[in-house]
Amino acid sequence: MPIPTSRRSLLPLIAGHGTGRSALTCRYRCGDACFHEVPNTSDNPYFGDVAASAFSRRSVLKAGAVVALAGAATTTLGRQDAVAAPTAGAPGSSTDAAVGLRFTPIAQQTDDAVTVPAGYLHDVVLRWGDPLFSDAPAFDPANQTEAAQLRQFGYNNDHVGLLPLNNQDEQVMVVNHEYTSEPMMFPDYDPENPTEEQVRIAWAAHGLTVVAVTGKHRGPRSGAFDAIVDHPLNRRLHVRTEFELSGPAAGSDYLRTTADPEGRTVLGTLNNCAGGLTPWGTWLTAEENFNQYFANAGAVTDPVARQRLSRYGLGSGASERKWERFDDRFDLAKEPNEANRFGWIVEVDPFDPTSTPKKRTALGRFKHEAATIRLAADGRAVAYMGDDERFDYLYKFVSRDRYRQGDAAHNATLLDNGTLYVARLTGDSPATEIDGTGTLPADGEFDGAGEWIPLVTGNVSHVPGMTAEEVLIFTRQAGDAVGATKMDRPEDVEPSPRTGTVYVALTNNTRRTAAQAHEANPRGNNKHGHVLELEETGADAAAATFAWRILLLCGDPEDPSTYFAGFDKSQVSPISCPDNLAFDDHGNLWISTDGQPGTLGTNDALYGVAVAGKRRGEVRQFLAVPHGGETCGPVVTDKRVLVAVQHPGEIDGASYENPLSHWPDGGTSIPRPSIVVAYRADGKTIGQA
Ligand code: FEO
Ligand code: CA
Ligand code: CA
Repeated sequence: MPIPTSRRSLLPLIAGHGTGRSALTCRYRCGDACFHEVPNTSDNPYFGDVAASAFSRRSVLKAGAVVALAGAATTTLGRQDAVAAPTAGAPGSSTDAAVGLRFTPIAQQTDDAVTVPAGYLHDVVLRWGDPLFSDAPAFDPANQTEAAQLRQFGYNNDHVGLLPLNNQDEQVMVVNHEYTSEPMMFPDYDPENPTEEQVRIAWAAHGLTVVAVTGKHRGPRSGAFDAIVDHPLNRRLHVRTEFELSGPAAGSDYLRTTADPEGRTVLGTLNNCAGGLTPWGTWLTAEENFNQYFANAGAVTDPVARQRLSRYGLGSGASERKWERFDDRFDLAKEPNEANRFGWIVEVDPFDPTSTPKKRTALGRFKHEAATIRLAADGRAVAYMGDDERFDYLYKFVSRDRYRQGDAAHNATLLDNGTLYVARLTGDSPATEIDGTGTLPADGEFDGAGEWIPLVTGNVSHVPGMTAEEVLIFTRQAGDAVGATKMDRPEDVEPSPRTGTVYVALTNNTRRTAAQAHEANPRGNNKHGHVLELEETGADAAAATFAWRILLLCGDPEDPSTYFAGFDKSQVSPISCPDNLAFDDHGNLWISTDGQPGTLGTNDALYGVAVAGKRRGEVRQFLAVPHGGETCGPVVTDKRVLVAVQHPGEIDGASYENPLSHWPDGGTSIPRPSIVVAYRADGKTIGQA
């Protein structure tokens, strides 16, 4: 059935169309990353200029049938391990990839509303400012306080995870609050002169939320969820919460500050974008565009230190939010090492509200988008990670030790010891056949081989000229030194729980020229992004080599530069700027987007994609978020689909006084970032007929 498309009637309200995104989001979310020079000025090749590995890619691709073995190890686990997805043949699963995608795809949207397919309902679970504790005052944005915000749900929710609590309808929900949009939060906000209370509210509105949710009282036919106020696991972590640096770089001279001469204790986590859940029942959350919070990099005169700051995009002068006026640690002229204490993967135990979260230095420091875990064939934990910057790299970490079922104390050490790798990808088609237009090479696929280049193992550096702690803290420069492949903004990197095939969302890169295109990033001016598929050699997540191919070249299917794994383009939904990834119980890939207002002129959305069988490459749009918003954190189960609606109404010209969205409260209200749940109206599961 052709996809209904109303995408020709684009939303004129969305400023920034054709330029990437609204300047408001650029300023507050990424620190105007797209408007700055690309931080990667290394002259390592745009394409790994190494000979293709000798192993047979085709034989690797055929090995998919045994990949599920590694995943099977995660299915027999107890309370802590119930995050693992079912394997093939489990109840409710299916070998037919189209099962789970049999909703009627929605058209592209421009409304100030959440849209779901016919036969589905949706509901708001939690909004910015909703109470997590009964002592929180009712949300009153005109009179918001730090004290209130510390007891309420934070701003700009991004990653969402669900962990089982004691039954399927009572769960622990973990949520990132990536950033604050001050002009939309505060009346009369003066960006040049924020008040101390506004800054303190912003500190409290950043960070993380752990909250118990339940659907019990809604009845078995409903998928709606509500927060359990005052649940003992409810917790806010923010810019003033204590975090511990752990792993090989903890205590490094580069991590020491006036307030923390030991280099082991950090206040806060910043710009937490996406994340992942571990097989041992903890939560990984990723510190992304931390650079924007620090002022005065220009005051640092040492050329080596300056180069490091520049490689991470730390700018001269004042920061956007002026936090340095209220806490010296945000002023690099006073505390040159403070920025080194951000840009990490953080591990949180949501089941222990007294625990101190750990910044895992063994996983390297960069603009971490997310981290997702797959157990290797021998039980070692493998974390897949992307560095979300144009021309930056794809990484993985392989633990030294093996996962032990039920041994929480042991499993809590897995991410402190191991080897960090960066990816180099090589195409199998002649370079002359990759012309930057997206035209397929003669062999019919953008594909090739790859290798994982070791950077550091524990305290041993594999990078000439860099110590182990330098590799871990200035990881981007280690990747530069070994000739890692420059990618088009690696966002989520997620292994399929069913097959182990790894999917990489490459959201876009309009700075790549046609001359810089290569088989793994084959389009110049890549404004719609693409999705890469990666198969580890021997179906082992710990392998040193892999095969890869492109699954999707995103965009309007009428655009000849698009590719949907060879599926009939007239049958797919338009999709642009893939960002967060998830898998359903049937093996389908789900993709949420960040940037469709600027590229397709339509609202960001959530799509289901078949990745196996004769419908492989079929993209079907399930949901759209209100205009100006971004679709984040998808969680897809057979009963419910959760998304985080981030920055609704964040459109150039929007402010507290001039809200350009009134979602979700309607009337003249200001927009509120919120978690939304969608479910079938008839009480059936998504996979049922
Ligand atoms: Fe926060 Fe890479 O998106
Ligand atoms: Ca090829
Ligand atoms: Ca993201």
